[in-house]
Amino acid sequence: MSRQALRWPLPKHDYWSTPFAESLLQHLDLRPGLRIFDVASGHGIPAFYLAEQVGPTGKVLATDVSAGQVARARAIQGSQLPWLRFECMDMRSLPPDLQTFNRVTGNLSVMFFRPNRFEAIRGLIERLSPGGQLVLTFPSYGTFDSLWQRVDQAMLGQNLTGERERFQIYLNERPSAQDGRTWLEKLDLDRIEVVEYPLEVETGPGHEFLHHPLLRGGFLDDVYECFEDQSLAGRFMADIAQDITRFTPLIAQRCVLSGWKKI
Ligand SMILES: C[S@@+](CC[C@H](N)C(=O)[O-])C[C@H]1O[C@@H](n2cnc3c(N)ncnc32)[C@H](O)[C@@H]1O
Repeated sequence: MSRQALRWPLPKHDYWSTPFAESLLQHLDLRPGLRIFDVASGHGIPAFYLAEQVGPTGKVLATDVSAGQVARARAIQGSQLPWLRFECMDMRSLPPDLQTFNRVTGNLSVMFFRPNRFEAIRGLIERLSPGGQLVLTFPSYGTFDSLWQRVDQAMLGQNLTGERERFQIYLNERPSAQDGRTWLEKLDLDRIEVVEYPLEVETGPGHEFLHHPLLRGGFLDDVYECFEDQSLAGRFMADIAQDITRFTPLIAQRCVLSGWKKI
């Protein structure tokens, strides 16, 4: 299908999901007629794109644990692409009678496979037909390290011992590219590829940083959660936000895990 003919391209103005989905698509063997299981599908990145590519002879089951996200995706879909279905499902406990697929995808997904990411990936591989491909993406360990170093230094300088301990637990819990490789190797996948693509996230100082739609919606919240006293957290972060030159450029690592189930 030519690029001009695409009715469901990845959204151009999305600075987070789209670049991760682009790296997923670089590794995904995508063809008409495939049956794809997309997990953590949100409001449809990249499920709509995948559905257009597999065409009416294929099938895409896009699933998310959030009923709100599924409703949003269905509203966007309307009666289009009838071979694409959005369903509410927790990827960590999939229905035992779920059919198998030629591809399993999950954009910005692995970090949510808590508490046992290995078991969650095993469950996904069980839904792959022999010869099928798994491709997952997530922001891997190393993402925004310059910021975390700045936060850690500031906590140390201000004797925020308990906060710093909780912060270290948060940092160490993040999955790395090497974790991903180990899981896929243990699960006996073939032709494993684990690649990280850097992505710069732009921000300004002060309010722009503290209320950045990506950072405040997730990454920065994890720092706030290390504080029992939220007004102290507010002052601490406002101080960090004053001089962004100490941690910019902010670089995320888009990690792609890809592997094939042996025949
Ligand atoms: C960062 S969003 C990614 C959505 C979409 N794939 C994208 O690229 O825009 C992560 C999604 O994972 C979903 N999610 C979190 N935990 C999940 C779980 N246990 N099972 C299924 N979906 C989950 C969230 O509801 C959210 O929609």
